[in-house]
Amino acid sequence: MCGIIGVVGSSDTLATLLEGLARLEYRGYDSAGIALVRPGETWRARIASGTESVQALKVECELAPSGFASGIGHTRWATHGAPEAINAHPHLDCSGNIAIIHNGIIENHTELQEQLESRGHLFNSLTDSEVLAHLIEESRAKGLELMEAVRESLLLVRGAFAVAAMDATEADVIVAARRISPLIVGTAPGVTYLASDIPAILDRATAFYAVNDDEIVRLGPEGFRAIDLEGSPVRLHQLSIDWDLETAEKGGHEDFMSKEINEQPEAIRATLLDRRRKDGTITFDEMRISDEELREVKRVVIVAAGTSHHAGQVAKYAIERWAKVGVDVDISSEYRYRDPIVEVGTLVIGVSQSGETIDTIQAIREAKRRGARVVGVSNIVGSSLARESDAVIYTRAGLEVSVASTKAFVAQVAALEVLALRLAQLRETLPPHDVDALFKGLNHVAKQVGRALERRAHVEDVAKQLLGSRDFFFIGRHVGFPTSLEGALKLKELSYLHAEGYPAGELKHGPLALIEPGVVVVAVTTDLFLHEKMLSNLAEVKARGATVVAVATDDDETIDALADYVLRVPATEPLFTPMVDVVPLQIFAYAMAKGLGRNVDRPRNLAKTVTVE
Ligand code: AGP
Repeated sequence: MCGIIGVVGSSDTLATLLEGLARLEYRGYDSAGIALVRPGETWRARIASGTESVQALKVECELAPSGFASGIGHTRWATHGAPEAINAHPHLDCSGNIAIIHNGIIENHTELQEQLESRGHLFNSLTDSEVLAHLIEESRAKGLELMEAVRESLLLVRGAFAVAAMDATEADVIVAARRISPLIVGTAPGVTYLASDIPAILDRATAFYAVNDDEIVRLGPEGFRAIDLEGSPVRLHQLSIDWDLETAEKGGHEDFMSKEINEQPEAIRATLLDRRRKDGTITFDEMRISDEELREVKRVVIVAAGTSHHAGQVAKYAIERWAKVGVDVDISSEYRYRDPIVEVGTLVIGVSQSGETIDTIQAIREAKRRGARVVGVSNIVGSSLARESDAVIYTRAGLEVSVASTKAFVAQVAALEVLALRLAQLRETLPPHDVDALFKGLNHVAKQVGRALERRAHVEDVAKQLLGSRDFFFIGRHVGFPTSLEGALKLKELSYLHAEGYPAGELKHGPLALIEPGVVVVAVTTDLFLHEKMLSNLAEVKARGATVVAVATDDDETIDALADYVLRVPATEPLFTPMVDVVPLQIFAYAMAKGLGRNVDRPRNLAKTVTVE
């Protein structure tokens, strides 16, 4: 998730931009840049120094000429192109007059860039965003005003954007537009602002407005006007903001965990964007393995830790079901010391939100030493895992601040299922129309996660009623089992209560001895083809006095007879259910932890990334 900011009509443009970018640091970034624009002159500075970029930019801007009343700024969270200065925003057009900043993903950037290059445009970066600068340049060359040029350009674009453009030949104007990626406008007397998030302009603007999808806004010192993509005037919705800065950084939520749970639909959508070429071929972000090698894969081994391990376990079912290749899922810290057997044709998949978990890094190194090819699934572009893998699929969940992983998990499942579909395509184990249908279904999951989020209040109420409980079992079958493991981990790490995830079919092999009044059994029952078996497991534990909480689909009419509490979710394709079913489990763990007065963003004893053994 990049951060963007812009201002027109300011008497301290540079300070406004730099302070605003600093306020967006919590969005995570690996580079930053600004452009100052006045009649006939565009001045730009860009720095790629990781989390020091904004600080380094401040130093660089000491060389900036004075007297600019307008400018734009950007913090980049790389999705396309390495986190280097050449890829940092703002990007310029060929004339150097037009500067753009962008948050989102231009899905059809490759074909647009090919067309623009065939018409003589020279590109300087490896990003998807730069196409916007050259598209606007072409429209401006036809004599269109900047707002019309941006509108015409965006009609050619597929994907997500919060974009802002300036042109030294139409200075003191910023034109901005939004689709999926957030964008707000702020006003104060004689000055107009834009930003991806309220914190960036909270202490400067006095009124705030939300920009909706496919709306374009022209900002001038006197204020703004807005149109839709067809060019018809629209009114922006004014926001009522009485937040302090800390609340604003959490998007109005009480803590980052709550914000990140609510960002899950966006995390899935962003992870799935730009994954297919026009001919339907599924692509990875970085590919240093040939299709032939992938086609010849004989066995897959997934190595990961914690929540990422649970995502890997979901992937096992999907890869075996769709790509018909055997999958083992290993705990990274075990794999690396087990003298693992790596036969020819072994593909190892390393899954890590941070891309820096030492056990997972060492595990893939061990695998490579033994001849395996490695695919990395990470949330951080350029992370150790990404750099040391032969191919990479990035989750695009944006910065995950809370120690407890939530949006990264659903994004990992989505990315791993994309990988499974790619293997199925190459091995021709699924007909193209099935791959199409599954990919379309995957794209529908974000909406279903959104619907699961709407039931938050009921889940919190159930948690409140169970606050005194001390012992929890989370049970499930098939992909409901890794979902249960993830639910148990969330409860453990957030509330410090003892919880175990177990295959439901294993209860009678021991754990049933622990079931007695007061023990809470949370059951994931949404896998319809094992539903009957789950119901008999619930009967088993109910008969021994357990309190039963069931995650069940909206249309399940049998569950009420067996469950004390039901957490409803929309039904979906079985292999997609972990992304939806995990939502009430996350909220349940969050609510229990809040009820116990825990620090949900910073649980005791834990770190966000375990870079030591
Ligand atoms: C999950 O909520 C925990 N924060 C932890 O288990 C985490 O998933 C694990 O440390 C792996 O981290 P990674 O994904 O960055 O490798």
